[in-house]
Amino acid sequence: MKILVATEKPFAAAAVNGIREICQAGGHETVLLEKYSSREQLLEAVADADALIVRSDKVTQEVVDAAKRLRIVVRAGAGYDNIALDACTARGIVVMNTPGQNSNAVAELALAMMVYMSRNCFTPGTGSELSGKRLGIQAYGNVGRLVARKAMAFGMEVMAFDPFVPADRMREEGVTPAENLEQMYSTCNFISLHIPATPETRGSIGYRLMSLMPAGACLVNTARKEVINEAELEKILADRPDLKYITDIAADCQAELNEKFGKRVFATPKKMGAETAEANINAGLAAARQIVEYFGTGCTRFQVNATE
Ligand code: 3PG
Repeated sequence: MKILVATEKPFAAAAVNGIREICQAGGHETVLLEKYSSREQLLEAVADADALIVRSDKVTQEVVDAAKRLRIVVRAGAGYDNIALDACTARGIVVMNTPGQNSNAVAELALAMMVYMSRNCFTPGTGSELSGKRLGIQAYGNVGRLVARKAMAFGMEVMAFDPFVPADRMREEGVTPAENLEQMYSTCNFISLHIPATPETRGSIGYRLMSLMPAGACLVNTARKEVINEAELEKILADRPDLKYITDIAADCQAELNEKFGKRVFATPKKMGAETAEANINAGLAAARQIVEYFGTGCTRFQVNATE
């Protein structure tokens, strides 16, 4: 089988080598399309691929239509909002992610972002410490749990809101379960977002929730830009000169935010939460193994769409 690795933002070389070895051992051929700059390149490369490994690369209806032989897509990472699931499902194409494989890298970045904002973006002047501050974690999944553990090591008090995780499990891990988002936003100095971009979450974080935040609070976004209502973010930052926003996924209006709010906002130049050798290797190799196993045994563990 031909396995295409299509990564506009390439994996570390060690991850690519590992993917090749796993695919080869399974009797498959690996084709690389890295740093591509046009849809046409992807459409051409996918035409004879039986399997596809991507990162945040957009697998649209057009890509699915061009991929006549495609049987499986693995998103090497957690969020699969970049994959046209319905288009894949309609063609019987299995879609998987590799949950947990890059979580530690994202969690470390979330903590680093909190330190960065607490220390005035590393400019001279008196900053503040994380120790003794309250952190609210929105979604207690693989990344959220790791952020909680690391924040506790910094001496932070941690609260989390996640309707899908039992409160007892949070308590066992030293985390206070929030009764609702309002309680968490109104009591925490930092809020760290770990929700996926879904129809329910898109645009769900905006003026109302942020206006509840205590003086000097900071919103940390290592999740998706789409969960933010950008117009409302701009308005609350204007109305509340004490609030801060740091993100790993620049807002569409980021240039405007930077100009208006200076060091109260920061966006990484390109999403870098999972940009560590370890995360690339973990997620890339897991993706390759999942594909080899699927072709070998039909195993559909980690499938996120329903093809029968
Ligand atoms: C994920 O969903 O796993 C992260 O957002 C990482 O995305 P990336 O592979 O594009 O860096």
